[in-house]
Amino acid sequence: MSRLTAQINPSGVDPEELRRIPLFAALTPGQILDLSQMLRKRKYSSGDVIFHQGDEGESFYIIEGGSVRITQLSEDGRELTLIVLRDGDFFGDMSLLDGDPRSASAITAEDTEVLMLFRDDFMNFIIRYPPASLEILRVLSLRLRRMDEVLGEAIFQTAAVRLARRLMELMAIYGQAMDEGTLLNVVLTQTQLAEMVGLTRVTVNKELAQMEEMGVPKRIKRKIVILDEEHLKRLALVAA
Ligand code: CMP
Repeated sequence: MSRLTAQINPSGVDPEELRRIPLFAALTPGQILDLSQMLRKRKYSSGDVIFHQGDEGESFYIIEGGSVRITQLSEDGRELTLIVLRDGDFFGDMSLLDGDPRSASAITAEDTEVLMLFRDDFMNFIIRYPPASLEILRVLSLRLRRMDEVLGEAIFQTAAVRLARRLMELMAIYGQAMDEGTLLNVVLTQTQLAEMVGLTRVTVNKELAQMEEMGVPKRIKRKIVILDEEHLKRLALVAA
């Protein structure tokens, strides 16, 4: 057992586990130990709401294991999944940084374990550890870049291109190599997939059926296998 593992603190957070989280990669062992005393661990079941859009922001979250959908509701009650976050990703930063209410809801997509930092501890953390603050800025910049792309797509691209691009994104996150192709190892209903692309369920169903005819994806129960990645890239208008 390493020196760090031996020092699991009363909050139940193992400093050794923290080393594997990209946000904490540049911290010294002493800093990791300090941090482990501030973090709290919490477990959620699949489908649990961690917080709602509009709530006051009280904590910052890091996913230790599992996945979380970040969603917004339209005024007529439709849900849009902005992104699905996975192990090592963080969320809940925006309302702590700007003081406004939660910009979106966070809902677990499977059984999920998170680490939480209360607002004051989060503020101390980013002030005290500049490498971690730089990592947060890098991720915020990536998110802005991605949302610029999604906005451009929504205005300039067809439903088929948008769906193909989301499938490629899901492949990068959940892809698991199989004999036949790549399994997107996540259970997504067609409604949830539609919410991610900003299309209706009927349109997604129609586009998926057309792609299936071309031999690109195949639906197996509630999962999707990508059979022809090169063709998917062409549909997404992504250079090979
Ligand atoms: P906050 O507004 O506190 O609560 C919702 C969180 O979802 C937000 O902080 C971000 O951490 C996260 N979030 C909101 N929009 C996006 C997005 N487009 N991409 C990634 N994460 C997001």
